[in-house]
Amino acid sequence: MLDIAVNRPALPPEIARRRTFAIISHPDAGKTTLTEKFLLFGGAIQMAGQVRAKGEARRTRSDFMQMEKDRGISVSASAMSFDYKKFRFNLVDTPGHSDFSEDTYRTLTAVDAAVMVIDGAKGVESQTQKLFEVCRLRDLPILTFCNKMDRESRDTFEIIDEIQEMLAIDVTPASWPIGQGRDFIGCYDILRDRLELMDRADRNKVAESIEINGLDDPKLAQHVPAHLLEQLHEELEMARALLPKLDPQAVLEGHMTPIWFGSAINSFGVKELMEGIGKYGPEPQVQSAEPRQISPDETKVSGFVFKVQANMDPKHRDRVAFVRLASGHFQRGMKLTHVRSKKPMAISSPVLFLASDRELAEEAWAGDIIGIPNHGQLRIGDTLTEGEALRVTGIPSFAPELLQGVRAGDPMKAKHLEKALMQFAEEGAAKVFKPMIGSGFIVGVVGALQFEVLASRIELEYGLPVRFDGSQFTSARWVSGDKVAMDKFVNANKQHIAHDHDGDVVYLTRLQWDIDRVIRDYPELKLTATKEMM
Ligand code: G4P
Repeated sequence: MLDIAVNRPALPPEIARRRTFAIISHPDAGKTTLTEKFLLFGGAIQMAGQVRAKGEARRTRSDFMQMEKDRGISVSASAMSFDYKKFRFNLVDTPGHSDFSEDTYRTLTAVDAAVMVIDGAKGVESQTQKLFEVCRLRDLPILTFCNKMDRESRDTFEIIDEIQEMLAIDVTPASWPIGQGRDFIGCYDILRDRLELMDRADRNKVAESIEINGLDDPKLAQHVPAHLLEQLHEELEMARALLPKLDPQAVLEGHMTPIWFGSAINSFGVKELMEGIGKYGPEPQVQSAEPRQISPDETKVSGFVFKVQANMDPKHRDRVAFVRLASGHFQRGMKLTHVRSKKPMAISSPVLFLASDRELAEEAWAGDIIGIPNHGQLRIGDTLTEGEALRVTGIPSFAPELLQGVRAGDPMKAKHLEKALMQFAEEGAAKVFKPMIGSGFIVGVVGALQFEVLASRIELEYGLPVRFDGSQFTSARWVSGDKVAMDKFVNANKQHIAHDHDGDVVYLTRLQWDIDRVIRDYPELKLTATKEMM
């Protein structure tokens, strides 16, 4: 058996056993089902079906809103911790719909690896490919699970070829399916020389696992029908000749992905995948930051905010900042420095997200995700340390691509609307601009569905029906630079000026020509399509 521990720096055992990852997939490939089985085997839920509601709710937009109504479900699913064997897994959820890509991109900055789930009949689909490209930017290690093997699926070589070609990554089989569709009986576990047999009768039953002494072991014939055994021999021989062998280092560097075949709904192949994440997945990694990077084994605690969620509990208007710990051993009650404001913060009631509930986190280690309830001080991209002025880098900010005006259905409620919008802006759910001239607000998003989600959340969380309408503007640019030039610019362009939730100046227009003109006429000013998160 391979052991790659030798290639890793020696981290304290509590940190070394952590695996922090996200699942990337196209909707319907089986992410929710797989998550549920992870939690089941991780002892975090008692029976299958507890996370199910989410998968169903994802299916339609209106159902998605319904899901958002029950914040409990989506919250507990944002970051989940569970143990399996000697490992502590932190699974960070990525929103399913492509219109939530902003959130997804940021989430992927908080993990060390991704599990890519593909549907065995469909192969690599568009959303998988998009998310994969984001992982590629950071060279995230990827482990692949080819799901729904209990159904009619594509030829195994064809699936592997497709991944190799579409995603330009080496693929090495960790297991090999035996039979297809109705005839699928299980997998040969290549890494551990075992035969795993699926039980179709009981979906929650873990596969029977039989130790095999190589492919010539006569035991195989007792469990695998002759024609399937012959096929298995042929295919494995071909695989050995054509496909690369598992190279743990290449996996850690993101150049190779091991693929497991299974059926999440039948609990098949899931434990093997979990063991694979433990064995071949990365330990908590070094975090890029300025002026120096942060290593997970530093004794001092540091972390960064990658997501903020407001109104998780409608009874208390709290916000929770999701913090990925980059280093150290965190203990409840610690005082950390909020680097952006240079102010100390006592972290007295941090929460750890155990699958079915939030719990007070007495302690956490580098790699873990904790939730910090706060009143708006913590923003996406913020760094917390034990005093050192470090700033975590690489949290992306996105240029708003769609702008719309928004009004409260009841004009008397304009103030309430402002409060709601500012809160969402701070959460990172949208960009909000208040024009200098006229009333109302302009909201900027990356994907059209975000408008609907916002309207629904404003109504649910603030009891305010709102209307989005077209805006005369299509582009927004943040303006910065010399104060005198800025005042002159603002005075001469009031019709186009707005302020964002931080009070920063934004130039709104519908013509690229206007932007070019400003750049030409005001060389002292800088126009940017995104605002650095800090
Ligand atoms: P998602 O979160 O990636 O969107 O996928 P989800 O887990 O919700 O699964 C999508 C559909 O695929 C569900 O069926 C689910 O039951 C099914 N599924 C998941 N894993 C497997 C598998 O290994 N084999 C088979 N045959 N199906 C699988 P649905 O009909 O949409 O919902 P439901 O009625 O089964 O709940």
